[in-house]
Amino acid sequence: MGIHFGVDYYPEHWDKDRWETDAKLMQEMGVQVVRMAEFSWFKMEPKKGEFHFEWLEEAVALLDSYGIKTVLGTPTAAPPAWIIEENPEILPIDMQGRVRHFGGRHHDCQSNSAYREHIRRFVTAMSQRFAENPGVIGWQIDNELGNSHGDLCMCNSCKKRYQEWLEKKYGNIEMLNEAWGTAFWSQGYNSFSQIGTPLITAVGENPSAMLDWKCFCSDLIVDFAKWQADIIRENCPNHFITHNYMCFDNKVNYYDLGELLDFVSNDIYPAGNWQKQPHQPDYEMASCQDVVRGYKKQPYWVMEQQAGIAGWGTMGRAVDPGQMSAWAMQSVAHGADCVVFFRWRACAMGTEQYWHGILGHSGRPGRTYEEAKKLIHTFTPHMDEMQGSMPAPEVAIVHSFRQNYALDIQPNHPDLHYVEELQIYYRGFYEKKIPVDFVQGMDDLSGYKLVVAPLQYLMNPELEQHYMDYVAQGGHLVLTMRTGVKDEHNLCMIDRELPGKLGDICGIEVADYDCLFEKEGSVLFGKNEYPVEKWADIITLKGAKAIGEYGTSFYKGTPAITENGYEKGKVWYVGTEPSKELVSDLTEYLAKECELTKLGSAPEGVEMMTRENAGQCWLFVINHTEEEKVYHLYGNYKMLEGEKQDFLKPYEVQLFVRNKYGRTN
Ligand code: GLA
Ligand code: ZN
Repeated sequence: MGIHFGVDYYPEHWDKDRWETDAKLMQEMGVQVVRMAEFSWFKMEPKKGEFHFEWLEEAVALLDSYGIKTVLGTPTAAPPAWIIEENPEILPIDMQGRVRHFGGRHHDCQSNSAYREHIRRFVTAMSQRFAENPGVIGWQIDNELGNSHGDLCMCNSCKKRYQEWLEKKYGNIEMLNEAWGTAFWSQGYNSFSQIGTPLITAVGENPSAMLDWKCFCSDLIVDFAKWQADIIRENCPNHFITHNYMCFDNKVNYYDLGELLDFVSNDIYPAGNWQKQPHQPDYEMASCQDVVRGYKKQPYWVMEQQAGIAGWGTMGRAVDPGQMSAWAMQSVAHGADCVVFFRWRACAMGTEQYWHGILGHSGRPGRTYEEAKKLIHTFTPHMDEMQGSMPAPEVAIVHSFRQNYALDIQPNHPDLHYVEELQIYYRGFYEKKIPVDFVQGMDDLSGYKLVVAPLQYLMNPELEQHYMDYVAQGGHLVLTMRTGVKDEHNLCMIDRELPGKLGDICGIEVADYDCLFEKEGSVLFGKNEYPVEKWADIITLKGAKAIGEYGTSFYKGTPAITENGYEKGKVWYVGTEPSKELVSDLTEYLAKECELTKLGSAPEGVEMMTRENAGQCWLFVINHTEEEKVYHLYGNYKMLEGEKQDFLKPYEVQLFVRNKYGRTN
């Protein structure tokens, strides 16, 4: 039997005499795993070298006696005060040059060698102590690496490491000067030792330097994680190692980090208190699941799934009855094999007093507990069967941390956000019930009927060739505005028109453009006129045909969306940011052109997603709204869970299955 549901548990926040009540309640709820200890360094090592793992061993053993296994977190996101007292240089420095002090979490510089030594000592002791513990199955390294490290760390240790990283990359300073375009504003360097971390300037920054800095920070975090992973691997060869990601967050390249891990985990807070809306729209949540699956192209865990009101100083909105179940099963539908709810019980102390869990402050089981219990008992047997199965989309959207970095550094339009742009296209497929994978540009694309590659802003000859080969061999590719603008050093490409060599497969040239700064534009597509935003590429046809035209401005009547046959394949180019309605109709058009399979039809707020293995295909139908909904499936499935096919109660999750040869079981 696999492990499919769990909770994040902090026994150290409670009297020991409560633990057994918790274990019993968890067992009744169906909990099979807990994650513990990821912030408990002081409790485990109150003084240097004085280890106290007994309390944790006791908790692990007690839970194990109730059939609940443990994932241990290394507590390296919260070094205790005595470490900071001994080595104050561990505290990170922000862009203003200020020290970030003790009292929160993430107050650590990840390159600092004194900190690395503390980690070596602690993680060695902890991993040796729990290596043979029958209750422990695996490890989470640190916690949400990159979280709160937005403008950290600019210290001298990081500076030195950055200089070494640059020297290794460029070999000599002349190469760096060229790659960074330092002829501008007298930014030339005589030696690597002159290069600093990006502390606040009087004004402006060098985009090429900033791209290297972001890549360096990502590499540093991966190296920081490896430091621990190597120790745990050596001491605990039978345990898995994972890490809790944050969806599309981009402080660390999650593809690179994934190479260290046995599997990826993710944290999901759709109704976080920081959000501007009651909760994330379901298409956005779904896109997060798909990108997380893509980081390692395998099933994953959700290590923190929101279970109640989120809150630090202020709170988010309540989770509706059934809504948590819909979120949890959305994760499963997209490839999660295990869902761990954050947190078991709302705690009475510290920054996160208002972050609610399965149990409230009272500790008494209420509606959330009952809902989780029902969910777990219903779906655990099915999840045993579907363990290891994966979605098998026909469409891929290209995702890249480097493109994201470059567009964070220079968004081109003040409201242009890389991830949001991917989600604009994603939504078109999601609403049409066409599953999507996220891939990296250089991945093997040949298995996809359609590849959508928005904002291919940084371009290099290999990627260019890769896209051209994909299309030449019969692939269907969508490219968009701001493609082929820059080289890999974040310098503008010259001596050719946009989108560069890819213009050949697009059959177009873009010699001029308009940043739709304070106004909207419009595009005529089919019989309708649609609003468009942010950008308008002014396109000259060089063999392509226009399938959409601008309806405004001095380029009114010129091509906005083009289509071009290239060898055995086809390429579309979208020169603007399409509205939701335009994306919807464009997706419909592409679905026909590429013969994409739709799982069914349903109104907004109803999701359909499949996972499959060699023999079976499971289909989830999820109502993310508080209203009843009607839907229709395009396929013959047998209902495993749910009240009535074609109808959904508020937040209802239905599960279907078919064997892979089309017949119902
Ligand atoms: C993150 C962290 C948790 C907790 C929650 C709630 O996801 O991983 O430790 O802080 O947020 O704030
Ligand atoms: Zn530092």
